[in-house]
Amino acid sequence: MDSILVRGNGPLNGEIPIAGAKNACLTLMPATLLSDAPLTLTNAPRLSDIRTMTALLQSLGAEVASLQDGQVLALSSHDLNNHRADYEIVRKMRASILVLGPMLARHGHAEVSLPGGCAIGARPVDLHLKALEAMGAELDLRDGYVHAKAPLGGLKGGIVDFPFVSVGATENALMAATLAKGTTVLKNAAREPEIVDLAQCLRRMGAQIEGEGTSEITIQGVDSLGGATHPVVTDRIELGTYMLAPAIAGGEVECLGGRMELVAAFAEKLDAAGVSVTETARGLKVARRNGRVDAVDVVTEPFPGFPTDLQAQMMALMCTAAGKSVLEEKIFENRFMHAPELIRMGAQIDVHGGTATVTGVERLKGAPVMATDLRASVSLILAGLAAEGETIVSRVYHLDRGYERVEEKLGACGAHIERVKTE
Ligand code: EPZ
Repeated sequence: MDSILVRGNGPLNGEIPIAGAKNACLTLMPATLLSDAPLTLTNAPRLSDIRTMTALLQSLGAEVASLQDGQVLALSSHDLNNHRADYEIVRKMRASILVLGPMLARHGHAEVSLPGGCAIGARPVDLHLKALEAMGAELDLRDGYVHAKAPLGGLKGGIVDFPFVSVGATENALMAATLAKGTTVLKNAAREPEIVDLAQCLRRMGAQIEGEGTSEITIQGVDSLGGATHPVVTDRIELGTYMLAPAIAGGEVECLGGRMELVAAFAEKLDAAGVSVTETARGLKVARRNGRVDAVDVVTEPFPGFPTDLQAQMMALMCTAAGKSVLEEKIFENRFMHAPELIRMGAQIDVHGGTATVTGVERLKGAPVMATDLRASVSLILAGLAAEGETIVSRVYHLDRGYERVEEKLGACGAHIERVKTE
């Protein structure tokens, strides 16, 4: 397992290209199962999660070719010959559940392993299942798998009223509804940019969708979908993560491809903390206004609120802010595992249930720390950028799931960061 070594090395200056969104790509790829025509995704990120989704789709008989060094994915499910998504693959990545809706909609049956929990929470999929049942699906949960069957004439349009916002359940329902007979309305739907991106891709394939980006999406089912070529939307979580690098270490960084509307709530918080975010012709330029940022409070919410996927990274900034910051994690039940690792670096953090109170210190101290999940791992790297001495982050396989070439991107801006091979 590799580790990343970071040494606090003063201000960062330069530019960082932001890749296509992991969480958009992970729902765009299964959309190939809805059609037997080719789907081409450009601006795809080069991540291990994408390789896992590729392996899953290939295990179903879909063709997935990775072109141009992984930045273009050519997909086709013309010869789908297997409708069972095995636990061996699904357990590695929860987003695998997103093959369920499309397979059910086009082929009328599917067997998908239940994803199981992960480090940040139990991560049930009950909302995914309820949505598909509202479209007439018969679901039988046994031996750890969802055995799903559509009615004889195929899925039927229905009203899906989500009791709370779920990104994945919205994506599964949206994809299934494109081929359901009649009209489907998704109420209390997720509004994330990744949902908007999926809807735009499905529309290119011939789907009839209205309202994406709002909490009510209406879909008129069609008999079949065609192919499309679609650019994956910019990754707002990678964007937010790298916006924090100059905020923590000082200097000025331009995040190429960044768009303010993808990170508006986050940028507002940074501004309140004393970090300026300026729109440029090529992206977003970020620099802190003074030598030390001010503490601000954060509550994570579904989009357009403050993203839970940026909570760990924001906590790293608050560890050296002037004052006390209260971070409330309202999406996942166990998403503060980065706190004990930051405390090893000298941070002062009190965690009680879903609330973490951070009292900023002048400077953190480098230490050996351990990544526990994807976003926690990158928050430790951010903390290491400004810490005194050396920080070694182990188990960076978590990192490689969601961030391509971190050491290159930060190194190009002057960070002292390298990947070290360990046992
Ligand atoms: C997506 O996960 C993202 N993953 C997550 O990013 C992100 O944190 C999350 O949305 C929230 O924005 C992908 O897009 C691949 P949810 P998802 O369904 O769809 C509960 C990252 O770091 N829930 O919106 O699984 C759930 O347990 C990852 O890139 C149910 O109870 O999130 C959670 O507490 C981490 N039943 C809350 O709802 C369900 O059927 C929100 O989950 C579904 C969800």
